Amino acid sequence: MYKKPTIIKIEKIIDERGQLNFFEIDKDIDFLIKRVYFISNVAKNKERGQHAHKKLKQLMIAVGGAVEIDLDDGLGNKFSFVLNSSSEALYIPCGYWRVLKFFDQNTNCFVFASQKYDTSDYIRNYQEFVEYKKIIE
Ligand code: TYD
Repeated sequence: MYKKPTIIKIEKIIDERGQLNFFEIDKDIDFLIKRVYFISNVAKNKERGQHAHKKLKQLMIAVGGAVEIDLDDGLGNKFSFVLNSSSEALYIPCGYWRVLKFFDQNTNCFVFASQKYDTSDYIRNYQEFVEYKKIIE
């Protein structure tokens, strides 16, 4: 669906009861969700991530607070996004090195993932990641 990291608008319905957001498989994302995890209570300016995935696709949404997500395809292309709204999500294709920088301890970062947790899908060494990208290109 998206070959590059892309911000997706998440539909919202606002009425007197508040706000409701939703997204759908096939319409908004091109993968079935096999796992959901969420990151919270990260101290201001702390970083997480520092890894890439070989196969995993993800959709990230920040609810409350803000998180910067820096992405790198290992081939010289870098991207930076700030998620700070439940009406926006970041689609991350496989094969991107990511660093998440949290701006606020109240940030809840929800991640919808295409695969179950699998340590063999992770590359946690940046140089190894660059070599891997050269080989699969
Ligand atoms: P880690 O990959 O270091 O977190 P981040 O995505 O912020 O870089 O994961 C932290 C710990 O949680 C590590 O021991 C692996 C474990 N974990 C799971 O068991 N299942 C999961 O779905 C995830 C995302 C992590």
